[in-house]
Amino acid sequence: MLQRKDLLGLKDCSSAEIYEILDEAAEMKKIILSGNKRSDILSGKSLVTLFYENSTRTRSSFELAAKYLGASEVNISVATSSVQKGETLIDTGETLDAMHVDYIVIRHPMAGAPKLLAEHVKASVLNGGDGMHAHPTQALLDMFTMREKLGKIEGLKVAILGDIKHSRVAMSNLFGLTKLGASVHMYAPATMIPKEIERLGAHIACSREQAVEGADVVMGLRIQLERQHGGLFPSLSEYAKYYGVNDGVLKYAKKNAIVLHPGPVNRGVELTPQVIDGDSSFILEQVTNGVAVRMAILKLLKEYREKNL
Ligand code: CP
Repeated sequence: MLQRKDLLGLKDCSSAEIYEILDEAAEMKKIILSGNKRSDILSGKSLVTLFYENSTRTRSSFELAAKYLGASEVNISVATSSVQKGETLIDTGETLDAMHVDYIVIRHPMAGAPKLLAEHVKASVLNGGDGMHAHPTQALLDMFTMREKLGKIEGLKVAILGDIKHSRVAMSNLFGLTKLGASVHMYAPATMIPKEIERLGAHIACSREQAVEGADVVMGLRIQLERQHGGLFPSLSEYAKYYGVNDGVLKYAKKNAIVLHPGPVNRGVELTPQVIDGDSSFILEQVTNGVAVRMAILKLLKEYREKNL
């Protein structure tokens, strides 16, 4: 049973909690695919999305997940909210609490902002991405997709290529995948590999081909230009040539290897258009699975709250 009020990251989640979310997401996917995306599992509950950074997938999938389960949902547009008048994060959270909101989904450029919020509100806080720290629901949907397509996670070789240093997706995948027994191999320009990441269980490859050799999963990462200060690689075309994923690189992976990317993709930079649109790519399936995983988490947090709070 998910043993928490909030979902802030995967570092502290047990493998049993992660598997429970993945199992529940499989049930939720049946609702999505049924054609009748209506359930009353969260009837009478309310969810607010509070995004201090842009998003297409995470925000809309949380909003759809709430709707499909019968909850009310509201988005706070930070650009037009009282945040612009200087209201603090904690005051904003306490204001939402006063409206008896059940869930707050937050994305924030500062690592730790969701935790700070969670410590000050009664609502369940879900981390939709905080700085370079964590993006737990993205990693969960990635793991769900791996298990759905390959039948397991334990024993998989997962190659993660790209801007690891600025990627909260890479960090959450590293914690989640190693917990479930996969091995994570990373490759990027040296300027984009965080110091000490090997101590967290990552294998740093000497070349793109070495990272991908025998891999079950090849995951590209977006270059996080918004979190860089420039000068980390010579040019986008050289990045694509030496660090991107193309059909030639994929030949080193297992025959049935799958290609994932959290999105949004910079076409022709992190992945070639042929790879994005190729038979090995499950990037759009990841998006579908993102709704299922978020539905599962909302349901399990509700069950925890009913028993414990
Ligand atoms: N993968 C991801 O977080 O996408 P968005 O930025 O569109 O939410």
